[in-house]
Amino acid sequence: MTNQLTIVKHPLIQHKLTLMRDRSTQTSVFRQLLRETGKLLAFEITRELPMTTKRIETPLCEMTAPVIDGPKLALASILRAGNGLLDGVLELIPSARVGFVGLYRDEKTLKPVQYYFKVPVDLGSRLVIAVDPMLATGNSAAAAVDLLKKAGARNVRFMCLLAAPEGVARMTEAHPDVPIVTAALDDRLNESGYIVPGLGDAGDRMYGTK
Ligand code: URA
Repeated sequence: MTNQLTIVKHPLIQHKLTLMRDRSTQTSVFRQLLRETGKLLAFEITRELPMTTKRIETPLCEMTAPVIDGPKLALASILRAGNGLLDGVLELIPSARVGFVGLYRDEKTLKPVQYYFKVPVDLGSRLVIAVDPMLATGNSAAAAVDLLKKAGARNVRFMCLLAAPEGVARMTEAHPDVPIVTAALDDRLNESGYIVPGLGDAGDRMYGTK
């Protein structure tokens, strides 16, 4: 099985992405654009949610109307840059439950190490959307999804802003059942693990830490 990779080419998303890539875009604008893009990507990633109906009364008559079926979905932000997308997704789906996955890279082994993990209950019955703007090596994404699955998640989707081919390959190998939704598939990773052409360090661009 291979991951289903969806590249969302909507003009609004592509325009905002170009502004985010531009090194002259300032921190506050970058953060605002990432939030807006999170909202637009959320629209796409929830396209196939199961639906049911319920009876309601409009001011004119009764009708059977569509509503989303199943328990509230869960979002899992991969710290820290995931929070930039998370805010936008939450604007569109305010009732979603929210978890956080904190991972850092061990400088010796270069493997992701967990430092924080707090997720909603009943993950197994919910659609879980993991969010991280940059799918670079894919190591953090794969490790985060490992942790979510260990916590019971069975239906996971991954949302990012930019993906590198290496990250998509890593996720396909580790979690072929997890569809990926992104705004762009870039060319490659450089020797430091940055996506090229990319947009730099998403966390630093969001919070002005460099
Ligand atoms: N993380 C980032 O923030 N940027 C990259 O290019 C790769 C990983």
